[in-house]
Amino acid sequence: MSATAIVGTQWGDEGKGKVVDLLASRADMVVRFHGGNNAGHTLVVNGEKTILNLVPSGVLHPGTICVLGAGMVIDPEVLCAEVRGLRARGFLAEDRWLRVSERAHLIMPWHRLIDRARERLRGAGAIGTTGRGIGPAYEDKMARTGIRVGDLFDDDGFRRALERSLREKNSHLEALLGEPPLVFDEVYAEYAQYRPLLEPFVTDTNVEVRAAVQRGMRVLLEGAQAVMLDVDHGTYPYVTSSNAVPGAACAGAGLPPRMIGRVIGIAKAYTTRVGGGPFPTELSDALGARLRADGDEYGSTTGRPRRCGWFDAVVVRHAVQLSGLDVLALTKLDVLTGIDPLRVCVAYEIDGVRRELPPATERGWARAVPIYEELPGWTTPLGDVRTFEELPQATRRYIERLGQLVEAPVALVSVGASREQTIRLGDLF
Ligand code: IMP
Repeated sequence: MSATAIVGTQWGDEGKGKVVDLLASRADMVVRFHGGNNAGHTLVVNGEKTILNLVPSGVLHPGTICVLGAGMVIDPEVLCAEVRGLRARGFLAEDRWLRVSERAHLIMPWHRLIDRARERLRGAGAIGTTGRGIGPAYEDKMARTGIRVGDLFDDDGFRRALERSLREKNSHLEALLGEPPLVFDEVYAEYAQYRPLLEPFVTDTNVEVRAAVQRGMRVLLEGAQAVMLDVDHGTYPYVTSSNAVPGAACAGAGLPPRMIGRVIGIAKAYTTRVGGGPFPTELSDALGARLRADGDEYGSTTGRPRRCGWFDAVVVRHAVQLSGLDVLALTKLDVLTGIDPLRVCVAYEIDGVRRELPPATERGWARAVPIYEELPGWTTPLGDVRTFEELPQATRRYIERLGQLVEAPVALVSVGASREQTIRLGDLF
């Protein structure tokens, strides 16, 4: 009886949404355990594009229970809009298909204001956050001044918490960030209006997730962001404000460690990142622009163009080792068609020393020079290929070499955005 965790192995946007969606057809429950609406999944089902920021992509499979776990930070405005949008399209027909943890923290209006004002003040050193208030909401959680989803339904308690928070936040907004103060009545009225829509979903999700695993239901733990954006193990400080490694699923979903039995990693066949921070294999030339255009590399949450570069085995190896990956799913291989030769970063050289794993410090990252290996490219479009044997020999070699370099078996290859454009090499779930 165990759950399966899914994790991004690079800087996010590896195509987790598509893989979770594929696996969700066989899952009974999909759980998000950290992050908030900084994440975004673009899903293409029957030619129709759906973007989800909070609700796991499992929601497109009627009957699959979607859980927003205790480790998340939830913007109720976004959640309400997503629920309404899904219902308007015939999804989420029953309330019990969406469960929201009463322990998750609420994103409040000051979190968004502080996030954006702080980024402005950072100037050239900006992290490039999504501006959704994620970092400031996690700061309040750790400072033990946060307001949780469950608090929203205790009117007296919510009023008191709101008054206390506004006293502190308004002085911060005005004095330090030059922002106008927020008005109690307006914030209260806005948040009170979310209650009727959200109330049927709010519960102790820990109990439901554990019970599902114990009963032998198929439970997927869906990581958001990715290992290189993990607050401890990524390119700090250019990271998000939560732990993205699968170990975080225990705290964020309320599961004992022994209940996670399998970990699936997702890697793009090249590398992208949005926002600032180190990216040793970045291509700032025409080839980078080509990857962006062919791979449609624009953020699904913010629309920002993604930075693009060669596959970096150092980064994915780090993720494989931290996550204890059982298998790897390799996405967007079709985008590499026509690029010859292909380069893969196998290690970094830092101050004359070869390093197989990433450095920890900003100074180390600034000095990391990629060591590349060249592999032959291919010219055949891959979008219609459905078996490993049909792939061009150079493509097969590329897949096998990546698996060797990061020391994880490749169990699935994606050659396009739709569910059908998938090649299975092994057992994923
Ligand atoms: P935050 O999570 O909004 O604070 O942003 C911190 C960093 O993480 C920025 O570089 C964002 O672009 C990046 N980030 C956050 N969520 C995602 C995601 O889901 N995909 C890719 N990058 C993300």
